[in-house]
Amino acid sequence: MNNMLMVTFAMIISCYISIGISEARLKVGFYNKTCPDAESIVGSIVRDATEFNPRVPAFLLRLHFHDCFVQGCDGSILIDNGRISERIAVGHQGLRGFDVIESAKAQLEFVCPGVVSCADIVAMAARDAVAFSFGPNYEVETGRRDGFVSNKSLAGRMPDFRDSIQLLKHKFFDKGLNEKDLVVLSGAHTIGTTACFFLMGRLYNSSPHGGPDPSIDQDFLPELMETCPPNGDINFRLPIDHNSGEAFDIQILENIRSGFAVLQSDAKLMDDPVTKRILDSYFMRFPNQTVQPSFEADFVKSMVKMGRIGVKTGPKRGEIRRVCNTFN
Ligand code: HEM
Ligand SMILES: *[C@@H]1O[C@H](CO)[C@@H](O)[C@H](O)[C@H]1NC(C)=O
Ligand SMILES: *[C@@H]1O[C@H](CO)[C@@H](O)[C@H](O)[C@H]1NC(C)=O
Ligand SMILES: *[C@@H]1O[C@H](CO)[C@@H](O)[C@H](O)[C@H]1NC(C)=O
Repeated sequence: MNNMLMVTFAMIISCYISIGISEARLKVGFYNKTCPDAESIVGSIVRDATEFNPRVPAFLLRLHFHDCFVQGCDGSILIDNGRISERIAVGHQGLRGFDVIESAKAQLEFVCPGVVSCADIVAMAARDAVAFSFGPNYEVETGRRDGFVSNKSLAGRMPDFRDSIQLLKHKFFDKGLNEKDLVVLSGAHTIGTTACFFLMGRLYNSSPHGGPDPSIDQDFLPELMETCPPNGDINFRLPIDHNSGEAFDIQILENIRSGFAVLQSDAKLMDDPVTKRILDSYFMRFPNQTVQPSFEADFVKSMVKMGRIGVKTGPKRGEIRRVCNTFN
């Protein structure tokens, strides 16, 4: 009898502990009870915004990456606190989609005030962005809370398009992400565009000898030079995934492998034996490889991993903002 009591007691305790822990973690369906329509509301806002502007999915996917890499996925990128704002940092140049997050937030505040964090809206919107671009569907974890800090000086370690592959790897390692995450998340460049601004150095003044980056395919180079001429408009935009910029697909990885990368950071993935091998693994079967990996499946795994970077969970950390661009 005594033993039975002990066992029951231990079960109650362990149950209590596991609830305590799980409450402080992200989970799929965090808002099932508190705001059951949260995900469908975000989805319909993203769909409407995409119908109005087909570039929206790319904005939203990139926004989640930039949120997560500074201070964790905590909505810090959304804050507008004037000249100190994280979002005006050089490393965040070209980011858009803030208005879409804000309108999702407004609708969510109407339906279930004070419940859904801005950081989660960004994560859900990124998931929907991939789905609406004919990419893989996945379950997004939620339960992030919004942070209290936005300071542009904290964005200094954002991965930069001019970084060496070593530096890119290190910046990902610092966030708990590995080479595979670096490769497949760079695959997000399967949708979206870049300004010529990010290509000029690569086309006309590539280190160490100047001139074009020799890793650019010889047939592709004249096309890029015509799109982004030396004294042309640096704000002119071109697809990052050559010939396949609309849909989410594996073409981006094939382009990177064959000299058709547009962004320098993507091209650099061929400079390192580990990242190169990961790229190759999606197209050829190595002797020690039993199954062909799937870009879509691996992308989803890495997105979930990225979505966990530095998250603030549980009632004691962060807050649920009322408006995404301002602290409460
Ligand atoms: C590995 C380091 C990375 C670097 C150096 C990098 C750099 C860039 C640059 C320079 C642009 C062009 C921005 C513009 O002209 O507005 C861009 C666009 C984009 N990036 Fe990345 N990126 C990286 C990783 C990622 C990751 C991990 C994601 C998401 C998971 C992502 C998603 C996007 C998307 C969707 C666009 C298109 C944005 C648009 O169409 O407006 N990038 N990136
Ligand atoms: C919420 O509902 C979904 C779908 O029914 C389920 O997969 C998920 O586990 C639920 N999450 C929670 C925390 O109840
Ligand atoms: C922003 O961060 C920098 C460097 O950490 C710090 O010196 C500065 O005081 C911060 N500014 C504000 C307003 O918190
Ligand atoms: C296959 O071998 C390479 C290099 O020897 C290694 O990096 C990779 O992890 C191996 N893959 C598997 C599936 O064992």
